[in-house]
Amino acid sequence: MPFSADRLALLLGTWDGGEGPRWRRLADRLDALVQAGTLADDLQLPTERALARRLGLGRGTVAAAYDELGHRGLAVSRQGSGSRVRRPAGAPPGPRGTSAMFATLGGSPEGTIDLSLAETRCIEGTRAAIAAIDPRWVTAHVDGTGYLPAGLPALRAALAGWLQHRGLPATADSIVVTVGAQQAISITTQVLCPAGSAVLVEEATYPGALEVFRRLGLRVVSIPGDGGGPDPSALEALAARLRPAMVYLIPVGNNPTGMVLSPARLDALAAVLARTGTPVLDDRTPAPLAPPALNVPHLATRLPAGQVVTVGSASKVAWAGLRTGWLVGAPGFVREAVAARIAADLAPPLTSQALVAALVPHLDVMAEQARAEVAKARRAAIDELASRLPDGVVAPTDAGAWLWLQLPGADAVRLTETAERHGVLVTAGPVFSAEGRLRDRLRIATVAEPAEVRTGIQRLTQAWEASGDLARPRREAAMLVI
Ligand SMILES: Cc1ncc(COP(=O)(O)O)c(C=O)c1O
Repeated sequence: MPFSADRLALLLGTWDGGEGPRWRRLADRLDALVQAGTLADDLQLPTERALARRLGLGRGTVAAAYDELGHRGLAVSRQGSGSRVRRPAGAPPGPRGTSAMFATLGGSPEGTIDLSLAETRCIEGTRAAIAAIDPRWVTAHVDGTGYLPAGLPALRAALAGWLQHRGLPATADSIVVTVGAQQAISITTQVLCPAGSAVLVEEATYPGALEVFRRLGLRVVSIPGDGGGPDPSALEALAARLRPAMVYLIPVGNNPTGMVLSPARLDALAAVLARTGTPVLDDRTPAPLAPPALNVPHLATRLPAGQVVTVGSASKVAWAGLRTGWLVGAPGFVREAVAARIAADLAPPLTSQALVAALVPHLDVMAEQARAEVAKARRAAIDELASRLPDGVVAPTDAGAWLWLQLPGADAVRLTETAERHGVLVTAGPVFSAEGRLRDRLRIATVAEPAEVRTGIQRLTQAWEASGDLARPRREAAMLVI
């Protein structure tokens, strides 16, 4: 049975943006899906006719894209049995998929060092703060039915205070507690973006958000940028052409680049958004990992009320296992978000919320400790890379729990696969790109113990040498830009 054209259309997401003939853009997107393992080896692709009908294309366009895939060695066609995926020789068994970075959420194979997941560990300060919570505080909230769709009032009030002190004019009523920032992104997208509408994202962005956008059948297009973030005039042009339903930005500690937008760039982007009126999702999840001095104003302070939804989470600052995040929006949006959340899960778990409410007064201290832990792992990664990397460029990283590497001439997808066989997991650039680009980029998470990070990077550089991209190591030529 061929793979369904409907499902493939969902996975394809945004192939239609960008330059060049349509057949080639379609082939590029299919290529990225095969390389990432989303389309498993031997999978039978939809018939040309079915996919053409589903995508509203001529059959010849799909045929040319399948042919191109064949030329690239990623598909084989047999008379009468259509086209089947051929994953490159040596590729690990799929499917790691567009969710490649989440493939090891349940634990990685024994002996493997996982530098692909960027969730901070539960730091000592968080453990101590949890241990110090009076159990009566939690049992005091074990009351009523336990269904509070907007969240526990004590937590909403505590968060409002903390967010105000971080510069966001939040009130308890403007907050909906969610199961992590991930659910906040999902709910916000469901409310703001009708199926088939366009969403604009940064050139490198959080894959968990891309996954939500694709599954909701949205067209995801990245905003061309430069070293300082998305280009405001490119944003303006795309907004005029595509009339997007939402722009998704991670202004502080972008995942994966670690970049913090400058106040000037943030203002320039806000000025465009004010003119176009496009709704914005301002994802501040990684912000606590940025030095406080780098935190730029929230977009909600630069745009009319009602245009911005701000999302945050206890994951980076306290612990991801608490599964507690939030969204902050205008009254009308909050009403719709609560309705959408009721359909998803009725209400967030109360006991976790009670714990987080008790942790809120300690969040700033915990964030400081989390930054110190990440800094140690980062230093270890940078030192190890500096002594081993020949021509890689570690792009300047302002914040975040990761390093973003440019590997001139290397194929990061192939490298991650070789690295996995050498016992280390890292994440290839295309996972972070709406269009499956950034093949010469690699993200290394810096949340493990420094010694483990060092061993992981040793394995990575061995893999790089083995992959053939690093044929002649020239250690003295290290180019590290931090
Ligand atoms: C930018 C960004 N947004 C959202 C999330 C999801 O966070 P949570 O664990 O709160 O669901 C992450 C997690 O890595 C992230 O980096």
